[in-house]
Amino acid sequence: MNSLAIELNEILKDSVAYGFLSPIGQRMYFPKGIVAQSDEAKEKAKRYNATVGLATSKGEPFYLSDIYSSFKDGIFRPSQIFSYAPGGGNKELRALWKSMMEKKNPHLAGKKTSVPIVTGGLTHAISLIADLFVAPGSEVVCPDLFWDNYDLVFTDLANAQLKLFSFYGENGGFNTEGMKKALMETKDDYARIILNFPNNPTGYTPSHEEALAIVEAVKEVADTGKKILVISDDAYFGLFFEEETEPESLFSYFADAHENIFAIKGDAATKEEMVWGFRVGFITYASKGFTDAHIDALTKKTLGAIRCTVSNCDMPGQSLILNAMKNGASYEKDKQTLFDEMKRRYNAVHQAVSRHEGESCLTPYPFNSGYFMAFNTNGHDAEELRKYLLDKYQIGAINIMGRTLRLAYCSVELEGLEELVDTIYKAAGELWS
Ligand SMILES: Cc1ncc(COP(=O)(O)O)c(C=O)c1O
Repeated sequence: MNSLAIELNEILKDSVAYGFLSPIGQRMYFPKGIVAQSDEAKEKAKRYNATVGLATSKGEPFYLSDIYSSFKDGIFRPSQIFSYAPGGGNKELRALWKSMMEKKNPHLAGKKTSVPIVTGGLTHAISLIADLFVAPGSEVVCPDLFWDNYDLVFTDLANAQLKLFSFYGENGGFNTEGMKKALMETKDDYARIILNFPNNPTGYTPSHEEALAIVEAVKEVADTGKKILVISDDAYFGLFFEEETEPESLFSYFADAHENIFAIKGDAATKEEMVWGFRVGFITYASKGFTDAHIDALTKKTLGAIRCTVSNCDMPGQSLILNAMKNGASYEKDKQTLFDEMKRRYNAVHQAVSRHEGESCLTPYPFNSGYFMAFNTNGHDAEELRKYLLDKYQIGAINIMGRTLRLAYCSVELEGLEELVDTIYKAAGELWS
């Protein structure tokens, strides 16, 4: 093993993160190679800097003027678009993301977290977490309605196993008891769990009381001596449409909940800043017992994992997002416009669905947030309905594991939603009643 990795492991040894390191996580380190040496040269090589493989003249990269001319004059220097981004991401963007995160999550006040590290979108963040902290053969606890990519990441990439529990409890809320039981039943002293709210595919976020109960339940498991890695997937953060819904990431509670809890927040500009194609996400670490040295070691391991996969992340995306967040004249207004429209669509779908209450072919799962709602197909084949909708009615929806039909109402105009919902019920009736 590389001596730098051994050094980082030594630093982490007395932290909760250590026992979660996969074999890759243990071997990972940030090399003192080209990136580190060129960073050092940036400070000191004032005469000639011959470190980076990036063609420059007079301090700026060469570029295709056909690309540069697509940007408005005077906003970005060529280096802000065409250069490599710094390892870990644009420092100013990382600092701003952290301060916005603290503003949106008041319970983070005074809690020690890492500076978010930029990833190539949230999928990349989750995949890095799997690489570093999910050893082959381990289990990842997850509610049974989940974003399907978790399967590919945790089962197929990490060679771990999803340990599922029923998402909803008896009362129609989040199944905290089931979650606790699944955590207790994980096979060794290290349990991993991924929680995604607002949830894809259900569109559900726990109420404030439920959120506190979830945190309490995980703490109770931690009290038994189990160490728990809690991954918060906050892809749809902020799209909360009901008063009683928890408006903060669970990460803000888990960040200092217990010495045995290791909290990781994965989030992204993707949906939060409406830049789906940009590929800019973030990973943030926290735990009650973390020192600055622990956080630094975890950051270096993560930078190493990025260096050996995508090397570094999208520069134009980071520059554009930073500029909008910092200087954008319409930043707040545009985000509000999206929120208001999503809420109108959410209300319209609720209304449309309520008119079909009691129909037995489909049962909508409780939903209150995000981009989606989903139907339980009550034992019928959701794939059959999906295909029928497509062929007979030219309607696209998603079959989840053959028993759930997901509707991304975020991508359908308000005026069409009632007809969409009515047609889905009609189609299900034609097939199954
Ligand atoms: C729950 C969830 N997590 C993560 C992601 C991935 O986000 P990104 O597009 O930033 O990779 C998605 C995207 O659909 C998602 O629904």
